[in-house]
Amino acid sequence: PLDTVGDVDFDRALTIPPLAESRVDGDVRTFDLRLQSGTSDLGADHLTPTWGVNGELLGPTLRAERGEAVAMRVHNDLPETSTLHWHGMHLPAEMDGGPHQLIEPGNVWSPTWTIDQPASTLWYHPHLHGGTADHVYRGLAGMFIIDDPLEAELDLPRDYGVDDLPLIVQDKNLDDDGELDMSESFFASAGVIGETIVVNGTPGPYADVTTEAVRLRLLNGANARPFTFAFADGRDFDLIGTDGGLLETPVAMDALQLSPGERGEIVVRFEPGERVVLRSDPSDTGNVFAGGQDRLDIIEFRAAEQLDPSPRVPDQLAEVPRLDPEDASEERSFRLSDSTINGLEMDMERVDEVVEAGATEIWTVTNADGGSHNFHVHDVQFQVLDIDGREPPPHLRGWKDTVWLRQSEPVRLIMRFGHHTSTEWPYMFHCHTLRHEDEGMMGQFMVVEPGQ
Ligand code: C2O
Ligand code: CU
Repeated sequence: PLDTVGDVDFDRALTIPPLAESRVDGDVRTFDLRLQSGTSDLGADHLTPTWGVNGELLGPTLRAERGEAVAMRVHNDLPETSTLHWHGMHLPAEMDGGPHQLIEPGNVWSPTWTIDQPASTLWYHPHLHGGTADHVYRGLAGMFIIDDPLEAELDLPRDYGVDDLPLIVQDKNLDDDGELDMSESFFASAGVIGETIVVNGTPGPYADVTTEAVRLRLLNGANARPFTFAFADGRDFDLIGTDGGLLETPVAMDALQLSPGERGEIVVRFEPGERVVLRSDPSDTGNVFAGGQDRLDIIEFRAAEQLDPSPRVPDQLAEVPRLDPEDASEERSFRLSDSTINGLEMDMERVDEVVEAGATEIWTVTNADGGSHNFHVHDVQFQVLDIDGREPPPHLRGWKDTVWLRQSEPVRLIMRFGHHTSTEWPYMFHCHTLRHEDEGMMGQFMVVEPGQ
């Protein structure tokens, strides 16, 4: 396995993605987003051709309040068709930005919906069928933070870019010309596994810390690589939120695994004047492929000699009402293996599952071939009922939209579908190892009116 611990210089200040500008007309908050190409300094001898949103690499952080209506104007200035998907968002399928909502070069796509879910850290990225891995790898991705009044009342760090930092963690390979190299090693059936770690597009980053506690919104934005986030000195941190929102109570941990697409919000405390590195340790949760056993330096935090005081993390965060298996009206099972789900490759013309609006369902998902797989469902946030018959660990008891699948251990998910129905537009479920998704480890479901 790769080991970069001690080899990274941490000589560049971490880039913080700007907050996206928006304008409010009437009751609607409108964002203008432009998919564009450019070049970026990723630490090679030559500039690297990259893609970004309103910039040359990655995109601005979108921010909206629960209850707000948002309108996106997504312009495609790229030479290729793309899409933009709002990962983790509850919204009508037509607005989802999946493989059916193509944006041709020169065109504008204008989805609109009302934010109707708790404060959380979501993200956006392209979802072109067969082209997701390529488009994300080139740099199209950004965060989408949802705020709500309950979260705003909690004594948590929330000064964006100061003590509340978005960290989009990705891995890249660069060739001698500085170009992004998408070729895959012989063993990497998961796709490209990069040896250069970038955070918000910055290679070898450091971040200055001016407060005793900092909230990190961690996003695994890699194509395939799992990360197991841990501090070099093994210090504890508090996990306060997962994919779909805050946990009920903080969970003290010293290592957090996130597979591609997953998010974790943590609060970590610093001593004046210290430097501490966040790294990725070998996974102990069965991640043996896709670089899961690598040791990687990620980012160095540099605490000032004087730190502004930060409160303790509150004992109670949010209410996360448990979904009750007794309420489930349907059970379905999904076996992931060999570029298929239940033996079928993705077909844009086929609807695999039909779900009734408002229904509670249990989905049992199994990694049947031992590859590096996880499972993501659009439109809903789910809860993990059990993993191979065992209760989920405390850090998996919150809202999730993507979950790691250890080989041959069925994971039972419970979810309640919302009320956005359509008989025309499907949502996706898939492995978020992007090459697997592109190769067909994806299916479609429709949410319809009961009895339809
Ligand atoms: Cu992050 Cu179907 O996607
Ligand atoms: Cu997979």
